[in-house]
Amino acid sequence: MKKVDISSLNPAKFIKLVPSRDQIIASNPANPIPHQDTYAANKIAKALHPDKQFVKIAKVEAFSPDVKRYTFVPDTDKGTTALAYFSAGQYLSVSLTVGKAVLTRPYSISSGPADALDGFYQLTIKRVNGGLATNYILDNWKEGDSVEVSAPLGTFKYEPLRDAKTVVGLAGGSGITPFLSFARAIAKGEEDMHLTLLYGSRTRDDILFKDEFDQIAQSCDKIKVVYVLSADSAENCESGFLTADLIKKYAPEGEPYSVFMCGPQAMYDFADGEIAKLGLRSKFVRHELFGEYHNPERNADYTAPASETCTITVRVRDEKTSVTASVNDTILVSLEKNGIAVPAHCRSGECGWCHSKLVSGDVYVPASVDGRRLADFDYGYIHPCCTFPLGDVEIVVPAK
Ligand code: FES
Repeated sequence: MKKVDISSLNPAKFIKLVPSRDQIIASNPANPIPHQDTYAANKIAKALHPDKQFVKIAKVEAFSPDVKRYTFVPDTDKGTTALAYFSAGQYLSVSLTVGKAVLTRPYSISSGPADALDGFYQLTIKRVNGGLATNYILDNWKEGDSVEVSAPLGTFKYEPLRDAKTVVGLAGGSGITPFLSFARAIAKGEEDMHLTLLYGSRTRDDILFKDEFDQIAQSCDKIKVVYVLSADSAENCESGFLTADLIKKYAPEGEPYSVFMCGPQAMYDFADGEIAKLGLRSKFVRHELFGEYHNPERNADYTAPASETCTITVRVRDEKTSVTASVNDTILVSLEKNGIAVPAHCRSGECGWCHSKLVSGDVYVPASVDGRRLADFDYGYIHPCCTFPLGDVEIVVPAK
């Protein structure tokens, strides 16, 4: 170890600096420090990561009454002049008010990153049975409407230092949307990766974006798309489910590959079992997580409380409110249903945006969506988006 010569650490040298520092301070005009927004670095950071963006619906394309694609442009009337750039696979969190419920919902961006620089985003939204937000959007949003969205967010993106050069994408239903963004980014040279997409649908008619995928795959040899039909058979399509054998059939032989999955919970439940058979390293298996966590009772470590209802007391700034809630809803859902706005984006325990202090009461957090850090456990913080009350609870949430 190098020995420090303490004789060289002469404090007198530092004391001598004080008069010259005072001189510099005195010689400068007493102008106020410029506002942080005037610095170039801050301007760039704000353009890339705005708190929120206001966008206007420029176009609505109905693929069916239950699936529509919305094209958004900046809403200059509300101060958004350009759209934040993003990585393929990221999502926008959309703010909505439905009746008295104040909601946010994450939707993957289906357009390519370069499209944001050309001034538009696209979201493709599929109706969910009983879904408050999707039903509202599909039945109400029209051209010219203004919508508030977050900056692009999410970790479901390609990281060359972590991921293999080839990604095998497993998509189910509307989980296809981030893969369209990946395909566009690869075709434009924005992402340096290969994508082999296994796209599961019930029937041929349920396949979304088939023409677009076929066109991109034809023009770019880094992209291959395989349609997999579970309740149908058609020329050039596989029949069945997204099994380990199917993945092996299309994955590169003798080379590492990553698996990226996006789809409904039922697809994850099945595909996770199949992927386990492949013996991939955990860093090569990525799930897009966002979405509500339903039914904690399917977890072996969950014991349902005796009463189906409870009281959630919530403090936002100095205001304290109590609401009656179902123990089967996450705390976030109960607060939203009662018109209490809580900051939230991913809704699946990942982003930390809803981070709140648990003051009292017992809660259950499913391990698969528990994205808290160790310090959160020590200091009693929860993510209300994936936390179920086990009785009366009190929490403090940050103001929205
Ligand atoms: S909204 Fe992302 S962790 Fe709760």
